Amino acid sequence: MQTLETDRLILRPWEPEDADFAFDLYSRWEVQRFIGNPPQVMTERSQAEERISAWRLLDDPVHAVWAVQIKESGQLAGNLLLKSIPASGESLPLQPSGDTEIGWHFHPDHWGHGYASEAAAAALRYAFGSGLTRVVAVTAPANAASRKVCGRIGMKHLGQTARYYNALCELFEANAPQP
Ligand SMILES: CC(C)(COP(=O)(O)OP(=O)(O)OC[C@H]1O[C@@H](n2cnc3c(N)ncnc32)[C@H](O)[C@@H]1OP(=O)(O)O)[C@@H](O)C(=O)NCCC(=O)NCCS
Repeated sequence: MQTLETDRLILRPWEPEDADFAFDLYSRWEVQRFIGNPPQVMTERSQAEERISAWRLLDDPVHAVWAVQIKESGQLAGNLLLKSIPASGESLPLQPSGDTEIGWHFHPDHWGHGYASEAAAAALRYAFGSGLTRVVAVTAPANAASRKVCGRIGMKHLGQTARYYNALCELFEANAPQP
């Protein structure tokens, strides 16, 4: 997985040592409330360890899950994901839709600084630089903060869809710049 750098951030692979941060992040309802169907907070540190192990096993030419680190302080700020998005369907686990999704989960201590948008813009550039032609984002209709991130990084709002995750979501898309 390629490490990315922006003015203020480094997007790097998750390390086993990041489990405390990941647990702190995903055990918070304010972070998890719009993620998952139904949303569920982590209750055990081992869940964070397992999640990190799975992210580290991801072997894909384009998809990636990055720990976002603030250069100045070295602190972790959040998670930036570029991944396959599951289609809605009746059988579990849900099957891949064939589309790539960008997503962002940041720690409340680091909201309000533009970090999520800065990291997401870098991930989008990376996606298009790696040959993807289209990336989607979905948010819960009530997730105003996440919808704003989509807008800040130039994604286009296409209305609501039930195409993914067996859920009604706001759908955003970004297309690769024309050469
Ligand atoms: C969605 C989420 C990542 C948004 O975080 P965020 O910090 O608000 O988003 P940004 O990085 O775009 O930061 C924008 C905010 O920083 C402010 N800001 C400060 N300095 C800034 C800078 N240099 N550049 C840009 N914005 C800056 C902006 O004014 C804006 O604040 P406002 O919305 O109050 O006007 C965050 O709410 C989150 O992690 N939520 C929980 C997980 C979640 O729901 N994820 C999405 C699932 S679809």
